[in-house]
Amino acid sequence: MDDNTIDKLTSQSVYDHDGSEKTPLYAKNNNEKALLKLIIAFCMVFCIGLLFILLIHIHYGSNQLVPHGNVASDNDQCSQYGIDVLKMGGNAVDAAITAALCNSVVLLHLSGLGGNGVMVVYDHRTGIGNTIDFRATPSSHNITGVPGFLAGLFYANVKYGILPWKTLVEPSINLAKTGITVTESLLEAINQNTTKLIEDENLKHWISTVSNSSLGQIIKVPNGLIKTLISISLHGPLEFYKEMSEELKLILKPDDVMSYQPLILPVLRQTYMKYCIITSNKGTGGPILLKVLNKINNTNTYLEDLSLLNSFKDLGDNWDQNFGLQVSTTDVFDLYVTIISGLGSVFGSRVLTKSGYILNNALDLNLNSHMLSQTERVTSLHLPIIAVETGSLCGRRLISGAADVRDGTQLLLSMLKTDPQDILNVNTITRFHFKNNDVDIEYPYNVTKQFSKLINNFGYHLFNATLPYPTSNIIQKVEDRSVAFSDSRGSGKSYTL
Ligand SMILES: *[C@@H]1O[C@H](CO)[C@@H](O)[C@H](O)[C@H]1NC(C)=O
Ligand SMILES: *[C@@H]1O[C@H](CO)[C@@H](O)[C@H](O)[C@H]1NC(C)=O
Ligand SMILES: *[C@@H]1O[C@H](CO)[C@@H](O)[C@H](O)[C@H]1NC(C)=O
Ligand SMILES: *[C@@H]1O[C@H](CO)[C@@H](O)[C@H](O)[C@H]1NC(C)=O
Ligand SMILES: *[C@@H]1O[C@H](CO)[C@@H](O)[C@H](O)[C@H]1NC(C)=O
Ligand SMILES: *[C@@H]1O[C@H](CO)[C@@H](O)[C@H](O)[C@H]1NC(C)=O
Repeated sequence: MDDNTIDKLTSQSVYDHDGSEKTPLYAKNNNEKALLKLIIAFCMVFCIGLLFILLIHIHYGSNQLVPHGNVASDNDQCSQYGIDVLKMGGNAVDAAITAALCNSVVLLHLSGLGGNGVMVVYDHRTGIGNTIDFRATPSSHNITGVPGFLAGLFYANVKYGILPWKTLVEPSINLAKTGITVTESLLEAINQNTTKLIEDENLKHWISTVSNSSLGQIIKVPNGLIKTLISISLHGPLEFYKEMSEELKLILKPDDVMSYQPLILPVLRQTYMKYCIITSNKGTGGPILLKVLNKINNTNTYLEDLSLLNSFKDLGDNWDQNFGLQVSTTDVFDLYVTIISGLGSVFGSRVLTKSGYILNNALDLNLNSHMLSQTERVTSLHLPIIAVETGSLCGRRLISGAADVRDGTQLLLSMLKTDPQDILNVNTITRFHFKNNDVDIEYPYNVTKQFSKLINNFGYHLFNATLPYPTSNIIQKVEDRSVAFSDSRGSGKSYTL
């Protein structure tokens, strides 16, 4: 070992002869010193700057910089409950469950414990997404299927949630105790001529209560609902299904009720325009959407509308309009959730149980041709939609959905075509509801003669759509900015935390 090598080795010892710490700052080379000093000064300035930003961040509320989450639903109070859950440390799944349950109390003519649905949970950071499918299962020969709503929400809380189940049900109990506000949607629903067909005394009586009240007034929820919700918060779905199997044994086979389970499948994906479209798996609107997207000619609006009508007609869509409610949520973990739940038609099977919920008519929507066998679940047209701009993790992301895939396809196309800055404009784009050659148009006074003529020339017949118009709520994220808004067709409100 020569002297040079020894020199090198000793100079690497941590302590110099005087015991001071030997860092490169004490290196002999002056140029190096100056450079290091500069680097350290820069780091200090940077750190102080960062600290300053953090202090501002803490002082003015974090939503100024990175949003902690969004809740978009069809009811103001329900969206607020969803935000409360996020504030308590719950995630987007917890918030969505809370808002969906709450919605089913306020807007019980469109969704509820006697209904069904589908949910997509998508983790944007890992790219993993799942469909939680809680469609009705056929039982006996009634138009009512075994309701999956509660089993689906409970499963989602167990699999993905952070907060305890009870915490998510409590807001709905409080709301039910206070009473619900009469909405435009409810008044429009009872004005539909189909309510004349209601024979069930229980539902007739409750509707008469609504008829005697006016918009904005607070009315009682149906008898039995508060008790049912309390039982659900304490005992979960098992007790709920047990009680249902006894109460409804003439309509649904008790074994079918007790053995109800939601299905869990991965999401489906397809690239369209420059987006990855993420939606629900088989038996729902997801596969139908993906089929139709392949046939859309979006050269111009007319061609697009026409190709949309033609593609659905090619699928043999003599399906009745599927109604329901939709909730979108996001959280700080970049978990995106969309839930669609419904009773089938408005007021479902038009039967209100003693437990305070309306039964679905999921087996009565002309969807049977899509059923493979009696053990198969009935197809649902519910369509969860998540669209993620390809190529960039921070690009545009959209979270929404629709109770009927025909509305949902129009919604998706209008969202993708609208500039991110003008996303609120999607609210004023008229949608049409169609079945075979019949096209029911929303806001008919806004239809141009040109459009009517074109539609007629291709063999379609235009009608005015009946109220309430279906609603979809939207969350859009671009980089760290987000916007959440509720459909102007409804009376919902959305919030960003
Ligand atoms: C379904 O069950 C209800 C309640 O028992 C009954 O009123 C109705 O007629 C049944 N519907 C069919 C199609 O069997
Ligand atoms: C309800 O009204 C529509 C037209 O608005 C009509 O086609 C339908 O037959 C009516 N249904 C009932 C049950 O009266
Ligand atoms: C609604 O009003 C009518 C007429 O005033 C009355 O006969 C009926 O009992 C009321 N219904 C309820 C549920 O209060
Ligand atoms: C859309 O329609 C136009 C006009 O008929 C046609 O020229 C074009 O090739 C079509 N595009 C697609 C993708 O089908
Ligand atoms: C209908 O037309 C009016 C006036 O042209 C416009 O202000 C409104 O936004 C339109 N509504 C819809 C739903 O298209
Ligand atoms: C449809 O709406 C238009 C515009 O509001 C109205 O003029 C027309 O009478 C309506 N048609 C029917 C059948 O209600």
